[in-house]
Amino acid sequence: MNKRDVKTNLLDHSQAKVRLLGEYVKRYLNIISNDGFTDAIHMYDLFCGQGIYENDGHGSPLVILEHVKETHYSLIDKKPRKLPKINCYLNDIEKSKTDILNQYITDNSLHYSVIGNLQISNADYKQAVVALKACFEKFKNEKAFVFIDPYGYKELVAGDIQGLLGKHKKSEVLLWLPIQFMYRFADEGTPAILKNFMSDLEIVEEAKKAKNVWEFISVLNKGFQHFLGNSFFVDHFSLQKEENTVFCLFFFTPHIKGFEKMLESKWEIDTQEGRGWRYCGNVPNLFSQQFTDELEEGLKSFFKSGRKYNSDVFEFVLRQGYLPKHATEVLTNLQKTGQLKVLLADGTTARKKSFYIKYCKPTDVEHKKVYFVLN
Ligand SMILES: C[S@@+](CC[C@H](N)C(=O)[O-])C[C@H]1O[C@@H](n2cnc3c(N)ncnc32)[C@H](O)[C@@H]1O
Repeated sequence: MNKRDVKTNLLDHSQAKVRLLGEYVKRYLNIISNDGFTDAIHMYDLFCGQGIYENDGHGSPLVILEHVKETHYSLIDKKPRKLPKINCYLNDIEKSKTDILNQYITDNSLHYSVIGNLQISNADYKQAVVALKACFEKFKNEKAFVFIDPYGYKELVAGDIQGLLGKHKKSEVLLWLPIQFMYRFADEGTPAILKNFMSDLEIVEEAKKAKNVWEFISVLNKGFQHFLGNSFFVDHFSLQKEENTVFCLFFFTPHIKGFEKMLESKWEIDTQEGRGWRYCGNVPNLFSQQFTDELEEGLKSFFKSGRKYNSDVFEFVLRQGYLPKHATEVLTNLQKTGQLKVLLADGTTARKKSFYIKYCKPTDVEHKKVYFVLN
């Protein structure tokens, strides 16, 4: 594959990338625009490219605009209490690319001002990040979503992600990384920019020890989580389309509900592509063993570490990259095989299969409805 193809055709891995982006944007817009509280949603694509490729593939800005338009018109039909404006900001340092994009948007009526503003710009990502940090801090009833899709990692500084997320809890970030290139350099001859990035995340030594690219991704994920702290949720979705080409989409959010939506998108794509969840409880299965052990073992050690209520389990399971329905399957099996007791807050036994693994606000009556004890 020559370099020109990568830039002018939307390749397989990029198709998967924009699909995941689309799945997430769809869910994100749906939740935020129905919260009855948000006045404006701001969608940023900081490395937007030209949008349309020679093979007619749609890049990130078109995927974002398509979902924005769809959400707006589906909301009008539902007549919500509040109809937030959805503003889109598409940026690429190369004007020739945004000219193509602009023309395509006009020719195909991909945007109407009634939905919100559309701004197309040619700023350097670095300057855009500084401006956005300041802008997000002033948000009132507003939310932002930022997509970062550089060609390489050279523009990247871990502090940029932290800056965009801030302390305001108003923004979420999706970051696409060419992980294979980073892994290749993580050991010897590491370029300075990558070294700085890894030392910001405090993973220099661990990254060197990674035996393969998958371990490297896991080290990066842990590094991001540690760097950002527990008030943020971090996970990733990786793709390998050819040997030696692994890409990884990292997502960062301060909201557990947003995180759950991202994991749903990820599992949905995995399931469609045949890599979905398979849990067989105690029955060993060649294909499922890896999944079974990870979540089941994780939950068992979690229960051993002290009293855990349903809301603790909800957060734990998401932080492991799984969904509540996966936890429910594991818990059902542990209960059925006599390995687990589920007790109500007063210590009496809860009804069978009543686990309450779902999002509950701390003030909800079901927040600490049941707790779990291993037999
Ligand atoms: C991987 S491509 C983006 C692809 C696009 N997101 C899509 O899905 O089709 C990266 C883009 O970043 C732009 N770019 C490179 N350096 C930049 C910078 N410092 N600031 C903003 N854009 C930059 C390039 O012109 C290129 O179009």
